[in-house]
Amino acid sequence: MTRRTKSAEKPEPHPLLRLVDPERVPLHVAIIMDGNGRWAKARGLARIEGHKAGIEAVRQAVSAASNLGVRHLTLYAFSVENWKRPASEVRALFKLLQQFLTSEARKIEENRIRFRTIGRTADLPKPVRTLLSSLESRTRNAGGCTLTLALSYGGRTEIADACDALVREALAKGQMGRVSEEDVARNLYAPDLPDPDLLIRTSGEYRVSNFLLWQIAYTELAILDLFWPDFKEEHFYEAVLDYQRRERRYGGVSPNPDPQGLPARSGS
Ligand code: FPP
Repeated sequence: MTRRTKSAEKPEPHPLLRLVDPERVPLHVAIIMDGNGRWAKARGLARIEGHKAGIEAVRQAVSAASNLGVRHLTLYAFSVENWKRPASEVRALFKLLQQFLTSEARKIEENRIRFRTIGRTADLPKPVRTLLSSLESRTRNAGGCTLTLALSYGGRTEIADACDALVREALAKGQMGRVSEEDVARNLYAPDLPDPDLLIRTSGEYRVSNFLLWQIAYTELAILDLFWPDFKEEHFYEAVLDYQRRERRYGGVSPNPDPQGLPARSGS
């Protein structure tokens, strides 16, 4: 999202963007969009109104990722556990997704966004699957940011599906060697997707909720104390600025150890 000044036509970049170090922008940002229901409840509205309001926050996140030059943005839109919600809410969520895919398709293509999905998408209603695969194929070669929607997605399900694929491969070959991390990784839903550098979660809950369990082994976490419909591009920039202040050691040691042996700001 860009802002316009009163006099000039030229959009003005958000002031926080200027503080971001362009050399250390996270390659992949994943988001757990949480708190739609509570946002609606706080306003005396039906839960679906929270999901509707969450769509504008999706636009803000996509726009912020593009402005920052983030190469991959992954959004947790519907989990395998979400099938347990009342049928009316599930139906309404897929209707919203259909509307989103229809209304945003042109903008996604114009902005050279590559669209893809992860999850057990075969479980989704046929009209949704048709829209998803059409947008995926139309944007396959787009050179901008990749927007991945996690739909009917579960981290444990993804790992189990990868193990299943490995067993089938071994049975077909008639031999089974030791399973390596690389074997599992190449059987994930989107094996070419780099691990997220930053995972943002709204609604102030300190949980990962079965999202990208394999991929977030060394991901930095940003827990934001606001409901998803209140998420704006500046929250994305603030999370990235906070990420840039951290030191990532991947289990190693700091190249600049604190002389007094005080713990660094981030964990191991
Ligand atoms: C979590 O809030 C949100 C979801 C389960 C669905 C996310 C959907 C959207 C943001 C709208 C549609 C998205 C797209 C991509 C078109 P919650 O319902 O769990 O909230 P609660 O924890 O307060 O109950």
